[in-house]
Amino acid sequence: MLPQSMLRTCHLLVLMLCVSAIEDFDWTKNDHGSFYYGVFPTGFSWGAGGSAYQTEGAWNVDGKGMSIWDAFAHKKGKIFLNDTGDFSCEGYHKVKDDISLMKDMNLKHYRFSISWPRILPTGIKNENINEKGIRYYDDLINKLLENKITPIVTLYHWDLPQILEEKYRGWQNASMVNLFNDFANLCFERFGNRVRHWITFNNPWSIAVEGYETGEHAPGLKLRGVGAYKAAHHIIKAHAKVWHTYDTQWRNKQKGLVGISLSGDWGEPVDISNQRDIEAAERYVQFYMGWFATPLFNGDYPQVMKDYIGRKSAQQGLGASRLPVFTAQEKSYIRGTCDFLGIGHFTTRYITQKNYPSGRGNSYFTDRDLAELVDPRWPDPGSEWLYSVPWGFRRLLNFVKKQYGNPMIYVTENGVSEKMMCTDLCDDWRMQYFKDYINEMLKAIKDGVNIKAYTAWSLLDKFEWDEGYSERFGLYYVDFRDKNKPRYPKASVQYYKSIISSNGFPNQRELESWKGKAIETCSSSNQLLAAGKSNTSHYSEELGGAKTKTNCYFIQSLTGILFVLPLQLEDCPRKIRNLQES
Ligand code: NOJ
Repeated sequence: MLPQSMLRTCHLLVLMLCVSAIEDFDWTKNDHGSFYYGVFPTGFSWGAGGSAYQTEGAWNVDGKGMSIWDAFAHKKGKIFLNDTGDFSCEGYHKVKDDISLMKDMNLKHYRFSISWPRILPTGIKNENINEKGIRYYDDLINKLLENKITPIVTLYHWDLPQILEEKYRGWQNASMVNLFNDFANLCFERFGNRVRHWITFNNPWSIAVEGYETGEHAPGLKLRGVGAYKAAHHIIKAHAKVWHTYDTQWRNKQKGLVGISLSGDWGEPVDISNQRDIEAAERYVQFYMGWFATPLFNGDYPQVMKDYIGRKSAQQGLGASRLPVFTAQEKSYIRGTCDFLGIGHFTTRYITQKNYPSGRGNSYFTDRDLAELVDPRWPDPGSEWLYSVPWGFRRLLNFVKKQYGNPMIYVTENGVSEKMMCTDLCDDWRMQYFKDYINEMLKAIKDGVNIKAYTAWSLLDKFEWDEGYSERFGLYYVDFRDKNKPRYPKASVQYYKSIISSNGFPNQRELESWKGKAIETCSSSNQLLAAGKSNTSHYSEELGGAKTKTNCYFIQSLTGILFVLPLQLEDCPRKIRNLQES
């Protein structure tokens, strides 16, 4: 028998070892500039993604029902240039073509979503199953598998059947939980013999905040300070229910995994020596990813959300918190319902403390008591909100490891857009973005974060929600002016292919050659596109502008006024930079 004191010392030693293993990421160190040469673990899965409403088109074909996005986009003034996803990339009719693009890139997985109203036009399983819709997804899944591409399937990428919005007010109503579970169960029944990776919800933060708080997204409701919390509450319960359905009814037979895809920007304190900024940055992340991840991993909302929303609700004289409450039974039902965590990550913010007095109306945003800032030196080649800050990605991944017990992570979205209607396919800013973000992900793996897959967002240019077609995230350019929606590879296709074939970044010399090779391919694609392009420009026509001979447009919004600047092809990326610098 060891003496008591020795036992205690051993115990202490083991504890210290554990702590140092968990605390291996140094949060105070900022090696932003350094590049790490190395490769990913064997079996790491490289993929690309898209979603039903953003790419399929065929909005009223073969018995599909209306979704909230069909209804929303058909209303004037909701979408940039009043565009819709009616036709989008015509992905519904181009399964074979798109799979050959994936095959050519050597993708190991493809992430897509199933449109609920395409297979259940009234949203309700007992009413009407649209076999033609089922056949479309059957065909897509079969063809992917024939080409050795693993399907990663999202059940809800924002396109709720419109009829459920009209009858029940969508996610404001608790009956969505069972209706969504029925839909998911049907998907497991019909596709689960071939699909092993299920994502219940894509980016519930957007569903809740943009759909029910700001109203920028479908269904366009502005229920400030209340609607988003309620929608999120039902979404979390629906996720848990679907996970349990899979767990009890299908897992044994189908041996798959059920996760969720959360979006999360990283929040870094403006002043790392200021405790109030540190706490504000923590709040930013907790109100973002933590809002959904904490219930799924720990059973309840983050304490800081309960505290802040509870206190503000009391100051407003409300009898109860605007943040709904889980019962003890619900907590234990929800806890542990994530086989893997999907992460969609694009950007970072600096955060500082800012008080919002509760008298001046309530909202999700003011509940957080913080302000978001950006560094003007951060590149922002695309969407207004998207600054390229690669080091934030590594920090977010390490945060997830620390907070949720090192779960298995699938990166479900990461990428960058271009803000121009530009036919320049030599997207050097996207190559840079992928190189730097993927490198930070590699560093995170070295830190011990358990990342299994990376999904470039997105395979194609597509309908970018309220921004219409004005923001292009694709590896492939889609010519939306042509009704056949031809696809052309951007330089980043070749670049991503090089990363995939080397499974990372082997050495400096090889890496340097990749860019040159990619630029060669895009110059010839540019010529192809120029030759095939139609004479009319959708954008200059709709904006009532003169038709120009150029094929680049840079769209810039300054204090709400829209400028469309025609650019010469060869000037595109450089002009953008100049505009930003001026
Ligand atoms: C997240 C959404 O899930 C996706 O649909 C969208 O394209 C990207 N953000 C970029 O905005």
